[in-house]
Amino acid sequence: MNIKAVPHQRFEGIYWIILEDGTKRIATRNLTPGRSVYGERLIRIDESEYRIWDPYRSKLAAAILKGMKDLPIRGRSRVLYLGAASGTTASHVSDIVGEKGYVYCIEFSPRSIRDLIDNVCRFRVNMAPILADARFPIKYSTLVGEVDVIYCDIAQPEQASTLADNAGIYLRKGGWIMLAVKARSIDVTKEPSEIYQREINTLKERGFKIAETINLEPYEKDHAMVIAQFEI
Ligand SMILES: C[S@@+](CC[C@H](N)C(=O)[O-])C[C@H]1O[C@@H](n2cnc3c(N)ncnc32)[C@H](O)[C@@H]1O
Repeated sequence: MNIKAVPHQRFEGIYWIILEDGTKRIATRNLTPGRSVYGERLIRIDESEYRIWDPYRSKLAAAILKGMKDLPIRGRSRVLYLGAASGTTASHVSDIVGEKGYVYCIEFSPRSIRDLIDNVCRFRVNMAPILADARFPIKYSTLVGEVDVIYCDIAQPEQASTLADNAGIYLRKGGWIMLAVKARSIDVTKEPSEIYQREINTLKERGFKIAETINLEPYEKDHAMVIAQFEI
């Protein structure tokens, strides 16, 4: 059986790859053909190359596979990415937004940002690596412009307030945030942990309307993805 690529039924820039044995994997179209970022499989079909997107390595892929209703990151989106690490997920975001979009990558670990630059940003025209602490967003105001989406995965306590501080400066009115949050219970809607509830409350108090909360099990233990719109 030939390998096939089928556009995702709802999300622009995301594909289903049907492999030789009939299994389905999600993927993005590679903006840098021939280059893989974290050892993911590259699939060439006609003129395009796709990168298989691993939901066990990327919470965004996990959220999509868990049935996310709406993905605010699209072609041409400008995205502020807090906690980019070495670029596993950020590189797929770069594929999705394409050459007319942009991804500002905030990361405070010098080691991770070095890998991000050497393996990812150097080859991509739409990514800026920024060595900075996301808790002090004003410090990168000369480097970051207004954005449509903020994606936050800094795995820190108080990350909702860090995210809201960034939104106050960089997010356009009506823009969206995506927050990867630790949630102890399996069913996050029934038995949210204290931390999770506190993060949600912070978002509401700071002007966000929660659109969706997605439990990331079994791909990511004890985590949920919260998607919300900025109303102020
Ligand atoms: C869970 S990892 C991110 C994984 C990444 N989002 C991915 O899917 O490829 C969290 C990252 O956030 C970074 N981080 C934590 N606190 C931060 C802060 N205050 N400012 C910037 N980066 C931070 C850490 O150094 C780490 O690389």
